[in-house]
Amino acid sequence: MVSVYDILGITASANEETILQAYRTRVKEAHPDHGGSLAEFRQVRRAYEHIDSGAPAGEFESATGTNHHNNTAQDADVESQSSSSSVSASADTTDKTETLGPTVEYLDYRVLADYGWEITDPDLFAKADAVELDIDAHGIFVVEPRESLLEAAERYGFSWPYACRGGACANCAVAVIDGAVEMSVNTILTQGMRDRGIRLSCIGQPVTNDLQVVFNIEQLPGLKELRLPAEQFENTRTDNSS
Ligand code: FES
Repeated sequence: MVSVYDILGITASANEETILQAYRTRVKEAHPDHGGSLAEFRQVRRAYEHIDSGAPAGEFESATGTNHHNNTAQDADVESQSSSSSVSASADTTDKTETLGPTVEYLDYRVLADYGWEITDPDLFAKADAVELDIDAHGIFVVEPRESLLEAAERYGFSWPYACRGGACANCAVAVIDGAVEMSVNTILTQGMRDRGIRLSCIGQPVTNDLQVVFNIEQLPGLKELRLPAEQFENTRTDNSS
């Protein structure tokens, strides 16, 4: 059975700096965009969190019962077991969150219609996990400190929509399905939109360790009317072609 140390490629005697460096290396290797998979990416992240928590290594195997090459379906089961503890733990692990950067699972709103899904489906992301979607449409990335969601997406090479990049037009809006995003200012989203989890990715930063967001939501009822014409802003990227 693969140990929690094997997953990060370190020994049990590795110091804190080595562990963190190994995590950063492995999480890049495991990213689906670099030849890995969602299951492997999550396994690497959980392995780091497990070691960082100081829990005995043996408890990791018994808790997951998987190795880091498991498939997505198996991982979905593990994820559902671990997500609540991960989220609940985030409140008292602020330092770790700031060091690692929150993990964002994203989904392109435009694929929902193709599969007959609704944005309100409670298992929307589990459904996305169960099908083969292009990495531009569904995947995971990590947000670095002081980065906005939009900046992080762009750093990974994704082309999310935007126009003003300053919180004034709503072209960059995303729907937060799980987790929380704070915005430095809000001058355009109505209270009703905010209550539905709509946030602006250009000025939005995760405040929870894990996040699920749907992007490309310009056709979401209520948002289309709210968006200011992108043409009036320079450096606009709202054609949404991919
Ligand atoms: S790009 Fe205009 S509000 Fe974000």
